[in-house]
Amino acid sequence: MAKLSVNIDHIATIRQARGGAEPDPVAAAALAELAGADGITLHLREDRRHIQDRDVEVLRKTIKTRMNLEMALTDEMVAIALKTLPETVTLVPEGRHELTTEGGLDVILLQSSLKQKIALMKQAGIVVSLFIEPDLEQIKASHKVGADYIEIHTGMYCEAKGTSERNEQLRRIELGMSAARKLGLGINAGHGLDYRNILPVLKLPGIEEYNIGHSIISRASLVGIDRAVRDMLTLIKG
Ligand code: PXP
Repeated sequence: MAKLSVNIDHIATIRQARGGAEPDPVAAAALAELAGADGITLHLREDRRHIQDRDVEVLRKTIKTRMNLEMALTDEMVAIALKTLPETVTLVPEGRHELTTEGGLDVILLQSSLKQKIALMKQAGIVVSLFIEPDLEQIKASHKVGADYIEIHTGMYCEAKGTSERNEQLRRIELGMSAARKLGLGINAGHGLDYRNILPVLKLPGIEEYNIGHSIISRASLVGIDRAVRDMLTLIKG
């Protein structure tokens, strides 16, 4: 059965809007876990626009499920990962001006740096996942650099206009999954998934974990985290 890791970055975004202490992503993570989340995802960005170093440190002590730390491929972030020891690191591309993570990691371009940094983190017992487009060459390169998992970027599917474009993107994901499976890579998925557009994706067998943030936290702002997480879990697990 597929798992749900709840991304709590947007709780920190609201806190940072006033520069205070509330709402605390640590409390949000605990409530998401109580509602049944299988893991907590957080993205420590280089510019610290939402999640702060303190959040990573405290969450490492309080998360009872699994911590998935999203981060850029930099020496600073690798050092933080080696100190924090999250269960999983998901490497993502990071542009200072983007609103959220846009596009997947270019594994082909970053091969040598990835190989070296992935080996370091794997030696420390961290499972390493690469956030990539469902592109055959990127998938092959992910296997070559030693990744354990890929996280398929579902953004293009979620933004597709009309049924035929959406089906085309879904097919792209399906083909990517089949290639990844043949190479022995684990498969996660995320970005832009909500309570409606996730339904066709759930029919593709083989996705181990969904990383979902914006739609859950948006719903939580109206109905509460417990209900928002449970509603998503009902869709994923039936
Ligand atoms: N997966 C990755 C790698 C991401 O960078 C993000 C966005 O932070 C997500 C999943 C979650 O995307 P969303 O907030 O659109 O659900």
